[in-house]
Amino acid sequence: MLKPVDTQRAPDGSPFQLVTLKNPSGATATFMDWGATWLSFVLPLSNGEQREMLLGCQDPESYLHQSAYLGATVGRYANRIARAQFQIDCKPHLLVANQGVHQLHGGPEGFHARRWSITSYSEQQVSFQLFSPDGDQGYPGDLTAEVQYVLTDDNRIEINYKAQVDKLCPVNLTNHAYFNLDGEGHDARQQKLQLFAERFLPIDSDGIPCADLTTVENTGMDFRTPKTLAQDFLSDRDQQRVKGYDHAYLLFPTCNANDNPAAHLWSADQLVKMTVFTSAPALQLYSGNFLNGTPNRSGGEYANFSGVALESEFLPDSPNHGTWPQPSCWIKPGQGYHSSTVYQFFAL
Ligand code: BGC
Repeated sequence: MLKPVDTQRAPDGSPFQLVTLKNPSGATATFMDWGATWLSFVLPLSNGEQREMLLGCQDPESYLHQSAYLGATVGRYANRIARAQFQIDCKPHLLVANQGVHQLHGGPEGFHARRWSITSYSEQQVSFQLFSPDGDQGYPGDLTAEVQYVLTDDNRIEINYKAQVDKLCPVNLTNHAYFNLDGEGHDARQQKLQLFAERFLPIDSDGIPCADLTTVENTGMDFRTPKTLAQDFLSDRDQQRVKGYDHAYLLFPTCNANDNPAAHLWSADQLVKMTVFTSAPALQLYSGNFLNGTPNRSGGEYANFSGVALESEFLPDSPNHGTWPQPSCWIKPGQGYHSSTVYQFFAL
């Protein structure tokens, strides 16, 4: 179902367009063309409750007044690029900075802050497209991005990203949904997480990689065996620098977008489980350390740690680290960028 929100205008003067998908088991998922944003996923539970899985705002306009990137499609390069620059042909290439001297999530007018066109939709899928011109946020070349969301009968949200470039450019598209499987108003750190990674990337207090990939063994960063986010919260220096978990994990090489998961998340009340599958090499775990003040669904504000983001991506600042053990984030003309991530929800 496509619904223009006539009462509110986006910064380009036109109404926001919302699309709601529904599957035969009664789950619904809603998306918005502004930022190709994932607004909502409502799962029917075994006790008859209809539970919202995602953090979100009361209305489309409120999404313009938050810096948490709630549910947004992030690009051209999700996460940080140090000093907002990289090298092309051994020459420095400058991007538009938006976090001090660094660039975060594609720059001040990244893909989260743009009108995407809806190219097709039906009961269980919606596709968006965006044209990003040469020089957009400092990036080289024209780029066309596509993101498709599919709601399957078995409660998967499949997100398929594609991009084409006409000049060599780093591309890293992700979705920035925050999950709270217990619903709004609960501390997301009570959720249990399992993450299939044995190395994470240490970062400085700006979130910029500051050391080599490091083993999670014997640290609070280890989620190979399920544990709550609360269990080892702030227990090590790496977390203390950034007020909690805000780190990229290099996934086991066997993880994929179909049947070998990257992560599982369980609600504290044991009624919901979510499984993440991805073709991306890394997953950013962010425990919502700076969510304070973000508009919530009921007209109030979220507190810190109200939701957890699990963002599929290349490691942060990869354009400046060609030797890290992952495929290249640099996309050539004619080559095409493809990435797929699945969030599957289970009512237990
Ligand atoms: C980053 C955080 C940032 C958040 C919202 C996450 O992906 O890792 O450092 O605060 O996005 O901007």
